[in-house]
Amino acid sequence: MNVLGIESSCDETAASVVLDGKKVLSNVIFSQMDLHKEFGGVVPELACRKHAEVIIDVIHQALKEAHITLDAIDLIGVTHGPGLVGALMIGLNTAKALAMAKGIPFVVVNHLEAHLYASMMEQDVSFPALGTVISGGHSVLCHILAPGKYRVIGHTVDDAVGEAFDKVASLLDLPYPGGPSIEKYALGADPKAFSLKAGSVKNHPYHFSFSGLKTAVLYTLKGSGANKKSHSLLNQDQKKDLAASFQETALLDIVQKTLQAAKDHNCQDIFLGGGVTHNKRLKALFEEKKEQERLFWPPPGMSLDNAAMIAGLAYQKYLEKGASDAWNLDVCSRLHL
Ligand code: KG4
Ligand code: ZN
Repeated sequence: MNVLGIESSCDETAASVVLDGKKVLSNVIFSQMDLHKEFGGVVPELACRKHAEVIIDVIHQALKEAHITLDAIDLIGVTHGPGLVGALMIGLNTAKALAMAKGIPFVVVNHLEAHLYASMMEQDVSFPALGTVISGGHSVLCHILAPGKYRVIGHTVDDAVGEAFDKVASLLDLPYPGGPSIEKYALGADPKAFSLKAGSVKNHPYHFSFSGLKTAVLYTLKGSGANKKSHSLLNQDQKKDLAASFQETALLDIVQKTLQAAKDHNCQDIFLGGGVTHNKRLKALFEEKKEQERLFWPPPGMSLDNAAMIAGLAYQKYLEKGASDAWNLDVCSRLHL
């Protein structure tokens, strides 16, 4: 079955063709990063307009790279949440229009579930397992009981980890998106130079909290009680050390909570997904701290937002349901796992 996947939940317009839920024939991602850079974050109105402008070209490109025409597509998979309402609507309505014109089914998928599916796609998976989604909008730990059956055991109570990277990068005058900027800036710096702490939530050992950490970076950089606009008190080398210390603290918190949750829930296999999995230091820390656990990372091109994970998961959902989704199905900006 040839599945066309469409993703437009935030600032990437993406389309992909995946064969039988596993073999990626194309994976085209149009990033709007340059458009949003000057604002230091995603501007929803601009994101929607850009999706509308480029989505058909992106789909054409995905078909072309897969050496296939629309007539050979059997199913369309599309993200319907979580994400920006207007941005999601452009992907969903494009999917519905194509499905209607070609007389083929369409299936909607949860973007968070798709991030987890990315690391399962090329594996023979056995359950139960542990799932960790760490992206710009989410930090979620879940117990995966069976395909599509999740129990969320931890989530952030304030900023998502990627969001914390983005905000700290902005404090350090580093470009958006902050994750890759901080990782690069921190290379070779001393991660122990500043003593920082990630938040913990009483009675919820797997919950995350990064807003206190972000404020600690602000006060270390600009002085106690300072605000975003205050001047920096640190020189370049000290700023690099601060970036490295922040990165180490945030990533170690994810590693420790994930490994503890895996231990407590008797899970050997851990599936990771989301943009922050791109970080090399995260991988190194997991390797350093883990015992017998097996870690599964998204394949290349499937960490950041992409449509291959959407097409792959849509295929599985279609096999389960055996039917198209309803024409009146709406987007869902606050969808959970
Ligand atoms: O999964 P994703 O593309 O979008 C969402 O679903 O949110 O993740 C984007 C997030 C951004 O916050 C970005 O700063 C972060 O992933 N990110 C990173 C790295 N690359 C991207 N964070 C840390 N280190 C990286 N190398
Ligand atoms: Zn994402």
